[in-house]
Amino acid sequence: MKFKTDEITNKPLHGKSVALVFFNPSLRTRASMQVGIYELGGNAVILEPGGTSWTLEHRENVVMDSGKTEHLKEFVRVLERYVSAIGVRTFAELKDWNLERTEPILSAFERYAGMPIINLESAMHHPCQSMADMMTIRQKFGKQKKKVLLAWAWHPKPLPMAVPNSFALATAQFGHDLRIAHPKGYELDDELMQEIERQAKGNGGSIEIINDVDEAFDEVEVVYAKSWGSFHHYGNANQDIREREIYRNKWIVDEAKMQKTNNAIFMHCLPVRRNVIVTDGVIDSANSVVIDEAENRLYVQKAILAKLLRS
Ligand code: CP
Repeated sequence: MKFKTDEITNKPLHGKSVALVFFNPSLRTRASMQVGIYELGGNAVILEPGGTSWTLEHRENVVMDSGKTEHLKEFVRVLERYVSAIGVRTFAELKDWNLERTEPILSAFERYAGMPIINLESAMHHPCQSMADMMTIRQKFGKQKKKVLLAWAWHPKPLPMAVPNSFALATAQFGHDLRIAHPKGYELDDELMQEIERQAKGNGGSIEIINDVDEAFDEVEVVYAKSWGSFHHYGNANQDIREREIYRNKWIVDEAKMQKTNNAIFMHCLPVRRNVIVTDGVIDSANSVVIDEAENRLYVQKAILAKLLRS
């Protein structure tokens, strides 16, 4: 919050560079990290493997005789000679659940690096987003514990689970009462759910799972919409797309559902497909805080950078 109110004006990153490695597209993460590093007195080096830098192999002991030009081992060790931290965005490919849930690319960065690695959204987590989300809830309601709904929404194709995973975990860590609503088959990871339950219990909150969209919105004070793919269908997107078709126009956040809430705020990490995930009427309403969430990315990331890199 001190970074939002301009109480911190020193330049903890003066003379330092931070590499931002984007395997996937971004608006908010890229812009807010670049601006934040600049405002803290540092310099951002943006790299896009396969675009503005070489394609990268992350697996150990492979014969690199196909498409990948450079190994992550050299990539990281070279960057370490120039920069003080590395931010990484690497989405799930939605191909192999048992492999991707272990964060193979992010873990490889951590294995080879001797400096801070900042997760800018990985296969399983988006911590910068969930910190901005928690800041947004706190700005609206102070330290009160709220009734929070994480609502699955229909989308034409399966999406990664990083945002719902991190949002659910952070909500439990902050002790809110969390309701997760999704159709059967769209459960979050079992091991993560155990941790979410443990965090909720330890912080005075609760967890409820609902599969009925008509009951999901009753009396909640925060609605967080997000679509995600079924881990049962990792590697088989067409099966997921076929099975989810029945939820189209049903699992959408619209005015009728928001009417059932206790005047809830509407949240989404963005980007969002209008009139697919949420209607124009809801996202354009006074209760929508999606732009505040995006703004808060800047402040939480400045706090993370300052904590990691202050000399
Ligand atoms: N919410 C979020 O991370 O946005 P970008 O994908 O645009 O960075």
